[in-house]
Amino acid sequence: MDENDGGQRWWHGAVLYQLYVRSWLDTNGDGYGDLPGIIERLDYLSWLGVDGIWLSPTMPSPDQDWGYDVSDYLGVHPELGTLADLDRLIADAGARGMRVLLDLVPNHTSTAHPWFVDAVTGRDAEFRDYYVWADPAPGGGPPSNWLDATGQSAWTWHEPTGQYYLHLFLDSQADLNWREPAVHREFDEIVRFWFDRGVAGFRIDVAHGLYKDAELRDNPPAATTDPLGGRFGQEQTYSANRPETHGVFRDWRKIAESYQPPRLLLGETWVRDLATLAGYYGHDDELQLAFNFPFVFSRFTAQDLSGVVGATLARLPAGACPVWTSSNHDVGRFPTRWCGGDERKVRLALLVLATLPGTTVLYYGDEIGMTDVRVPVELRRDHMSRQGTGWDGSRDRGRTPIRWDASPSAGFTADGVTPWLPVGDAADQNVASQRDDPASVLWFCRSLLALRHAELRGAIAPYELLTADGGLWAYRAGGLTVAANLSDQPAALPGPSGEILLSTAAEPPAPGEPLGPWQRSEERRVGKECRSRW
Ligand code: NOJ
Repeated sequence: MDENDGGQRWWHGAVLYQLYVRSWLDTNGDGYGDLPGIIERLDYLSWLGVDGIWLSPTMPSPDQDWGYDVSDYLGVHPELGTLADLDRLIADAGARGMRVLLDLVPNHTSTAHPWFVDAVTGRDAEFRDYYVWADPAPGGGPPSNWLDATGQSAWTWHEPTGQYYLHLFLDSQADLNWREPAVHREFDEIVRFWFDRGVAGFRIDVAHGLYKDAELRDNPPAATTDPLGGRFGQEQTYSANRPETHGVFRDWRKIAESYQPPRLLLGETWVRDLATLAGYYGHDDELQLAFNFPFVFSRFTAQDLSGVVGATLARLPAGACPVWTSSNHDVGRFPTRWCGGDERKVRLALLVLATLPGTTVLYYGDEIGMTDVRVPVELRRDHMSRQGTGWDGSRDRGRTPIRWDASPSAGFTADGVTPWLPVGDAADQNVASQRDDPASVLWFCRSLLALRHAELRGAIAPYELLTADGGLWAYRAGGLTVAANLSDQPAALPGPSGEILLSTAAEPPAPGEPLGPWQRSEERRVGKECRSRW
């Protein structure tokens, strides 16, 4: 591995790349991306400059929630490939200096998992207590008011055994009972199994949700309507963020650190409150990275973004590494959410993501500024959001195949094969045309990642806010000075200007000149050689 990769904390200053396997490259003509397709395009990822890839769920699953309903934690989904393919992917990525993270789903299993299949056979079944079962409320009906991800009761009645089981997502995703010690033992083994195979870490699904209130108390009404303000008008006070969850991460952290190099635990911590988020780092003995959803859902303004960055850094315990991302398979793509497809804004967002201290996670397609794709209701594949008629509500919009070229199948699958989700307008944003154009978003992103590697890799660079006045957000991160004008008005640069490396203008603004609307500049404080200019 790269000697400048942070050693023990190799994710410091790194760029991880979330790769939605089914939408990457289809090598067997079934319309789904697969593991051999990732192997085939590792050189692209290496050229781009990513340090690690996080694969969307790869384990066998009935795909009610596209792999987030696992039926075997020790295998590979046959539609995606084999265990041998995954081993080869880890080895081939490693040969290029890239690490591979898997998605681990410990909050729930598929109801097709052998544990659940056994659990429903009787109240004294061997695996009954692996799941959360409860009697009806005293007056009848579900044991609590908790809601699942579709807005229905999170409790489903199981007539043959006369109890309800809990599912915070679909009713085919039964929540595991983390109060059962055997569940801990099972997952310790699962975690070791993959670490032993060279998996560099896990993105941990629903990390904040493992434990539920022991008394199953009702959730209170939500205080806000923002996307992190609970679900369907309810705070998740008793169905998530329970203190006992931290013990699971302390145990896994010990396992992760018993490997060389240490394995990485990256939590999907879907919380609004930064103090709660900070708590998942523990005393440097829980998650090494916790996803920051207040940043994801920030408005794309200088004040809001700089505010959440500043508040995050102030809240995190000493030595904790922040993590920045803005697109994923649930929330959609930032070139749409933040930028409305405006390429100037996409470049600004990439600049910010590439220069903030800590770890950055790009989503496949971010590097070409790929926008959400309109997926008609009849073509939708996401069971959790398929019911809606508006296209904004469907998570499919951000899960469509990456566009490799401008051909009808976008180079994702063979011509004549129907891709599992539509590819959208391939002529618009695709890898091939951008790779031929050094002025493209793709080259811009690649150069930013090279700059990050040179300047920020291997440490959590100190961050200093220079200004977040009006539309201008300017800061120092390590040896970089970054200024982004997130507004329609010209903005004066703070302080004396040095060597400007980046600008959307044909000519970078001269020292002392203002930044134009939606322009950015970035300069080095220390007198290093300028390698790139836009
Ligand atoms: C969060 C995942 O990101 C999402 O896609 C999934 O539906 C839920 N967890 C349930 O696993």
